[in-house]
Amino acid sequence: MRWVGFTVWFLSAVDIALICYVDAVDRMNFKSCQQSSFCRRCRGVQPGKSSYELHLNTLKVEPSSIEAEMVNTENGARFRFQLFALQDGTFRMKINEWAPLKPRYEVQYALQGEPLLNKLKVIERTAELVSVEAGANKVTVHAIPFHVDLFSGDELVISVNARGLMRFEHMRLKPEQSEGGEKTEGEDGPHHDDTVSDPGAWEENFKSHHDTKPNGPTAVALDFSFIGAHYAYGIPEHADSFALKSTKNMDPYRLYNLDVFEYELNNAMALYGSVPVLIAHGSTHTVGMFWLNAAETWVDILGTADQNVVSSIVNFVSGSATPPQVDSHFMSESGIIDTFFMLGPKPKDVFRQYTKLTGTAPLPQYFALAHHQCRWNYNDQDDVRNVDNKMDEYDIPNDVMWLDIEHTDSKKYFTWDPIKFSQATEMINNLTAKGRKLVTIVDPHIKRDSNYFLHNDAENNDYYVKTKDGKVFEGWCWPGSSSYLDLLNPEVRSYLSSQYLLQNYHGSTLDLYIWNDMNEPSVFNGPEVTMHKDCLHYGGWEHRDIHNIYGLLHTISTYEGLLQRSGGKLRPFILTRSHYAGSQRYTSVWTGDNTAEWGHLQITIPMCLSLSVAGISFCGADVGGFFKSPDAELFVRWYQAAAFQPFFRTHSHIDTKRREPWLFDEHTLSFIRDAIRKRYSFLPLWYTLFFEHEQGGAPVMRPLWAEYPSEVPTFALDDEYLLGDKLLVHPVVHPGVSDVSIYFPGPQDVWYDIDTHRKIQGGGTVKIPVTISKIPVFQKGGTIISKKERIRRSSSLTHHDPYTLFVAVDRNGSASGTLYIDDGQSFDYRKQKYLYLSLEFNGNKLSSRYLDAAWYPSRSWLERVVILGLPPGVTNAQVESKSGGRVTVETMYNSETQSLTVRKPAVSIAEEWTIVLQ
Ligand SMILES: *[C@@H]1O[C@H](CO)[C@@H](O)[C@H](O)[C@H]1NC(C)=O
Ligand SMILES: *[C@@H]1O[C@H](CO)[C@@H](O)[C@H](O)[C@H]1NC(C)=O
Repeated sequence: MRWVGFTVWFLSAVDIALICYVDAVDRMNFKSCQQSSFCRRCRGVQPGKSSYELHLNTLKVEPSSIEAEMVNTENGARFRFQLFALQDGTFRMKINEWAPLKPRYEVQYALQGEPLLNKLKVIERTAELVSVEAGANKVTVHAIPFHVDLFSGDELVISVNARGLMRFEHMRLKPEQSEGGEKTEGEDGPHHDDTVSDPGAWEENFKSHHDTKPNGPTAVALDFSFIGAHYAYGIPEHADSFALKSTKNMDPYRLYNLDVFEYELNNAMALYGSVPVLIAHGSTHTVGMFWLNAAETWVDILGTADQNVVSSIVNFVSGSATPPQVDSHFMSESGIIDTFFMLGPKPKDVFRQYTKLTGTAPLPQYFALAHHQCRWNYNDQDDVRNVDNKMDEYDIPNDVMWLDIEHTDSKKYFTWDPIKFSQATEMINNLTAKGRKLVTIVDPHIKRDSNYFLHNDAENNDYYVKTKDGKVFEGWCWPGSSSYLDLLNPEVRSYLSSQYLLQNYHGSTLDLYIWNDMNEPSVFNGPEVTMHKDCLHYGGWEHRDIHNIYGLLHTISTYEGLLQRSGGKLRPFILTRSHYAGSQRYTSVWTGDNTAEWGHLQITIPMCLSLSVAGISFCGADVGGFFKSPDAELFVRWYQAAAFQPFFRTHSHIDTKRREPWLFDEHTLSFIRDAIRKRYSFLPLWYTLFFEHEQGGAPVMRPLWAEYPSEVPTFALDDEYLLGDKLLVHPVVHPGVSDVSIYFPGPQDVWYDIDTHRKIQGGGTVKIPVTISKIPVFQKGGTIISKKERIRRSSSLTHHDPYTLFVAVDRNGSASGTLYIDDGQSFDYRKQKYLYLSLEFNGNKLSSRYLDAAWYPSRSWLERVVILGLPPGVTNAQVESKSGGRVTVETMYNSETQSLTVRKPAVSIAEEWTIVLQ
């Protein structure tokens, strides 16, 4: 959530009201590339012969890496080039200064550990190049000019510095500081060095803010060409299309975590999070690239249509038509060049390769996948109790009530408003009694109040971020004057973690979970609403170096706290706004302060797909839109769409009308209720998909091309996606429509409407009629989905409820699927306490088998099986299991929908069983 205006505390109530209705983002508050000196310099590099050269006579070959000296021939600056072969088709390339004046920041905490090395073999070595091989992949490093070609098998897939846009600004002394007015090394060469003439190189102003830049120009930039790629995806977070656009005639995509008030759609402006991961996809292969840098970063993208002839790419198989290509240019303000190449070749290989580096999302608690009810703010404990009771009264399942900043004692986190929330524990216990949870907000800014224990602890222990002069940094945020915890310091993180312990967080219980907001960090009166880049962190690092991981550090601290709080037993649940590569190991992410407009509903799909392919599967957007008030139709459509997105929470700004579903007319209420209840029926599928995500890294919500990589019409879709490989979702995101055009992939595949069971042939676009109650969702033929169709007040109350299986047959009459079950909350699943079942149907026999040796004593049983796309002729079914023996049960055939229902097979889900149709 976000404040309402830039200078609210100086204004009257009338002014505030005016500011509230300003329509869109104030672009003037945020830099363009032209206003950022390093972006200007890096973007100004012209394609052509690069001035960087490798001295291959210095080549050192180790079992898993090679290393050589590199020089910038324009100014003599020296660098160390390293290439590492990593396991599973991945390479890492690092370039750093040979002997920097000061160490340059190398990003910590994003990787889940040291990447595992692979053996490499030098297969060719001359004065001009060295080629190495690892597994099925090959890399050729060219010395003059420096460029690198990466091959998947024999196919050139990535070319580095092919356009010669590399720039590595070595650290230097400030010109007037050097002795006797002499110029420092390298600045008197024959070539023009624009870092000297750039007025922003050593200090820079933006609006009223001054950046002292004591280290001067330190940018790093490099270009990457993806040969054979139709499109590039990823590098969230932007409110833009899923397939990245050419930035030829606009600003580059910007990665700089910012609290952007009323963000605009369809542009490359920075938002709350940064994940510098790009996936390039073409019809023959998929690759990925991870730019491990936490400083402000800009990324230019060029598509096939706007390519210049790239002379240094000489390795094309000649004769054929020019393959498609995407070029990218990454530019960061500081740090080093540290890049990972995931060579695929299939989309799922790239997802696995990337998540081996930064980790997958741990399986969430079952409740976290259910429905969440939030507002800024539920006024007091009576309000919470009333909303909670109304959920039951109106038959709307809900698992979590949320409290925004107003629940605290004057914005002091870990406290409660003494009047409005005088009985916090009782309030939580009342929720617990219905199987529900509470989430409270904890932001990283700390109120400077000598009556606040956290502020006093932070002052006394020197836990705050400092200004460039070494004083405690003070900025404005929700509480007024605030300071910011220096989360780069491990001691500060563990201090913050300990605040979550039940004995420290008074009033809390194990059923309270955490929302981390404003962690970009948001500083209302800071440059671009964030912290000054010359502020200082633990270890002497500038904020400039670590800005984009501040939110990651915040959630690491929260995760550790929640983990310790339960003695390592319960899985933490956290929601964050700011995020970076690796955030998925700790937290879910939402897309921040959106608006109650159709365009904002539409953008939820590409925004969450972009996060998903960049490793962050647990994504959602505020249902209904945070700013403004949705009309009934938009509100219904938003619930319907979000019911099929991973994180499902409704939220709204404090100035908007209350919008609990029962405040709308009866029809609207019933459509919203139906959408939420539908979500609950599919929770077993969501849970299974998240388990499989943790194991293998494939996104839960995925683009169609993840499953149909060579099907070109799927490449640029922004309005539909798959859940696992099982459901095709194309929500209605436009007003007043009576049909939607849906692309069904797979000429060999069939799809079944989950409501009507109508069968649709894949491989083309079909117009599907819709009414206001319709959510267009289709089950893929060949899959089996498990559902729980008894809907209760909260998901935990359904733990022992029976399952219904939906078997949708493919053109051969077969289907298969999986079902994952455990206790829904603890880490016992890591001790083999779960059930992971393989479900197979081959035309007349459906069976369930354990996929591994794990076991969990589920008391659930099989209530019903529905088989879609089955020809007539079955009269009954024989059910066989160890404890139940062999029994015959009734079946019912619906010839209109060609579906067979097997009634009450009644086998225990924890046992292996077989059902034979006869
Ligand atoms: C808890 O529930 C009881 C019973 O409904 C109610 O009387 C009490 O006020 C609730 N407490 C709070 C703090 O909401
Ligand atoms: C049907 O079976 C054939 C032969 O076994 C197989 O090649 C094909 O992939 C199957 N089709 C589907 C849709 O599974």
